[in-house]
This record gives sequence, structure tokens and C-alpha cells, in this order.
Amino acid sequence: MLEAMEYGESVATLATDTLVLLVPKFTTQLPPKAAEINEATGGVIAKLASDGVWNGATGKVLELHHLPGVSSPSVILVGLGESQRITPASAFQAAAAGAKAAASRARKKVTFVADQLPSLCHAQAAIGSLCGSVGQDIFRKDKSLFSSEKIVWIGVSDKVIPNAQKIADAMNWVRWMVNLPPNHLYPERFVELTEEFLQESGLSIEVWDERKLRQENCNALLAVAQGSLKPPRLMIVRYRGKDGLQAPVAIVGKGVTFDSGGLSIKPTEGMTTMKCDMAGAATSIALVKLAAQLDIQTPVFAAVGLVENMLSGSCFKLGDVIRSRQGKTIEILNTDAEGRVVLADVLDVALQSDPARIIDLATLTGACVVALGSDIAGIMSNNDEMARKLQASAERSGEWVWQLPMHSFFDEQISSKIADIKNVGDGRWGGAITAAKFLEQFVAGKPWCHLDIAGPAFLDKPKPWMDAGGTGVMVRTIIDYLTQLEGTES
Ligand code: BES
Ligand code: MN
Ligand code: ZN
Repeated sequence: MLEAMEYGESVATLATDTLVLLVPKFTTQLPPKAAEINEATGGVIAKLASDGVWNGATGKVLELHHLPGVSSPSVILVGLGESQRITPASAFQAAAAGAKAAASRARKKVTFVADQLPSLCHAQAAIGSLCGSVGQDIFRKDKSLFSSEKIVWIGVSDKVIPNAQKIADAMNWVRWMVNLPPNHLYPERFVELTEEFLQESGLSIEVWDERKLRQENCNALLAVAQGSLKPPRLMIVRYRGKDGLQAPVAIVGKGVTFDSGGLSIKPTEGMTTMKCDMAGAATSIALVKLAAQLDIQTPVFAAVGLVENMLSGSCFKLGDVIRSRQGKTIEILNTDAEGRVVLADVLDVALQSDPARIIDLATLTGACVVALGSDIAGIMSNNDEMARKLQASAERSGEWVWQLPMHSFFDEQISSKIADIKNVGDGRWGGAITAAKFLEQFVAGKPWCHLDIAGPAFLDKPKPWMDAGGTGVMVRTIIDYLTQLEGTES
């Protein structure tokens, strides 16, 4: 539970189990809240700074216990870095790092105090304070992280609190879903957990089982699923928007609950984290619920394709030609390029909602991680204006996206001699783009952005501000984007 208090509150005498103090870097002049603690303790903060132990430098976290003159038994100091350079991203990280430090043991009430935090960073700091304490220890008896029952904020506007709570809940749900192991999370289970998650949201849910998928000619999705004992699903969740009049934004998610690579099998190192391959689907679901909770103007049509990519006597094969729902035939030359094959059909389903624009979210290519590293999502689009707006939303939200070019000559790489299109490019180079080019074939020219989140959806190693595992990436960016659409466009 999250709430805000007045900035004027004296922090030294607060009744709380832990104080997390976010302080910009300083030299001689202490920022006001740091100065308060400094005075109460007879100069401890100033001494820490002059000793070179702590002065608010970025990412420096220091926990102090039983400071004389301070009511809180624990004070966690977190550096915000140079005051001129504080961004939504660094504010999120600082608050989350403080939350993670506070999560080392169970605490009832943690009070976050932001010293001179720019108002553009308030929301992200509040969200960070709810994300840093949540980790991947779902199946551990001895938990490694403990979320506090109550979080109080001083120094962020109380206006950001209600939305911050909802956005953080959405992110933490995505992270939890991604962290569920593949024996616990498979298409049917994904549907059940989503139905639980959406209870009381008033959203309409439609689930397509195998029979319906066959009726609907979702042969591409079915081809990927056919090697697994776990039956596939396609799930549609609709939010009508405030007045139900506008054309929706379609959000399409890749939901491969486990990606073994199929016959083009992955090596062990590449396969161990492939439970993360449904991150796009979980994110799409979280976003449509969030759109409803935040009562945004624009309708949202979310569609996710849920399959397990396995190998067996019945799996799809190299050389197979499949007729996709839209009618285009696909030659399969690599069964590990399965995400685009699934999305071919899901994008076509999304077109039924007659969307004004389409966003797809997918852990689609290792090539995108090679290009941009593991912290940045690749954005590929047929509409530069839309891509720019998404990039601006990412900046405001403390996330990173970078656009990759979509020149028409990449199209030659996915042309097939046997079918309309093949599911891989020629060789590895530009693999993120050839994958996007494949998807582009299925959006019927609508304004569309593809977000390749193969890098940032999952952390192999923990960061100081977030445990390893699912990250909930792009929830903040896309909800900002959807909110910005209000009133400006149809
Ligand atoms: N799910 C993977 C992409 C991925 C890689 C996600 C690393 C997260 C981390 C995707 O299905 C895949 O295997 N892509 C292939 C495509 C290739 C065969 C053209 C890849 O990136 O190697
Ligand atoms: Mn794959
Ligand atoms: Zn995959």
C-alpha cells in the first residue's frame, strides 16, 4: 500500500521502521532532508561525505542503523547523482534500489523521502519503490526479498500515487508471470491466471481453443504449437475506451510459454531462460487492464498467441509450407524463428478490430540484443511519427527504445522460391529487422510499431535496483503512449 505525506514533515522524528532517503549529489551544501538528518545526528551525513563514504553519488546505497537523534531504527541513504542529471530512469532506479535494500528483511512501514526530486521524476520514483522489493524467489522457502506492508512517500506529489500503484502492480504481475517456470506456465495456465488477474476489471475476454483456432484458419500459430503436448490458445481482451467511439489501439503479444527452438533446437545456454518468451503476451494483458483502471479514452484490443515451441514426432519441420490465417503462405526454414509465425496469425486477428494503430510486443530475436544490448528495446515501424511518439513516451517513463531502419531492400531477404514468404532472412545479419519485415507483411499497412523486447524483458543477473528475472519492461512506456493519445488523435 502506497501513500504520500507532506514534504514539510520532519523526517528525523517520523515513526517508521525504515527511512529511505534519496539525495542528489552534494559537496558542501547539504540538500534539505539530508540536512535535517545531519542536524539530528550531530553531523553524521556531513562526516560521511567528508570521509568520502557517501555523498549522493549515483547508485550509492548505504544502510545505517540506530542513528542517534533519529526515530527510525534504520536509515537507507540512496544517491540520486548530479542534480542536473536526474532523469525518470535514474529516479526509478534509485527508488527501486532503496526498496531492494529495504527488502533484505521484513519491515512493516518504509518511508521514502525524496530530497529535491524534479516533479517529472515523481511518478517513476513511486513506481520504483514498489518494484525493487519484488523478486524471482517464488518457489523458495527462505525468501530473499520482503516487500513492506506500507510505503509512505515524502517529496513526491500525492497526485502520482494512485496511478503509480496500478502501474507497479501491472509490472509486478508481468514479472511474476515471466518468472513462473515453464512446467507451471503453459498456454492453458496462462489463460487461467489471466482470467484471475482480470476478475472484476469488467473487460471482455475471449479464449480460442484448438477447435476454434482451426475454424479460424490460424494455421501458422497451430503449426508452432503442434509439437507440444500442451494445447495452444489465443486470447482476446477488449477495453471499450471511455466512450467506445474511437477505433482501438491493438496490442499484440508473443506468448511462447517455452521456446526450445523446436527441431532447430537451441543449445542449453540459449534455452535455460526461454520461459521468458511469453513476456510480450503478459505485457499486453497487463496493459489492457491498466488502460481500463486508468480509465483512458482510447479503446484497447489486446490479442495474444499462446503456444509452447517443442520438438516431437508431430512438430513442424524445416521445409514445411503453412497457409497463414491471412492467406499468405509461409515457408519454414528455421523452427526457432517461431515467434513471427505465431504473430502472423495474431496480427491478422487484431486487424478484425479495425484498429487505428497496432503495437506488437515480442521477445523476438537474439539479433536485437546483439544490436542494442540487453537494456534497450528495438522499435521497428512502418510509421516514423508513431515510432517517435513511442520513443518520447519511453523517455518520460524511464525506459529505453531505439529505432532500427526498415528499408524496403530487407524485404528481398524474406522472399521465398516456394511460398509467399519465408520465416528467416538470408544469414544472421540484420536479424531483428528481417523479423520485423516479416511481421510487417501482416499489418495491412496500418500504422504499426513492433517492439523487440528480447533484451530488456528478462535480466540474467540481478541489478542493484531489480532482482534477476522478468522486468515488466514497456508497461510504463506504452501506458504513457496510450494516455498521450487522449484527445489528440482518433
Ligand atoms: N525467443 C527467441 C528470441 C530470444 C533470444 C528471446 C534471446 C530472448 C532472449 C526467438 O524465438 C528466437 O529463437 N529467435 C531466433 C531467430 C533466428 C532463428 C532467425 C534467434 O534470435 O536466434
Ligand atoms: Mn525461437
Ligand atoms: Zn521465441
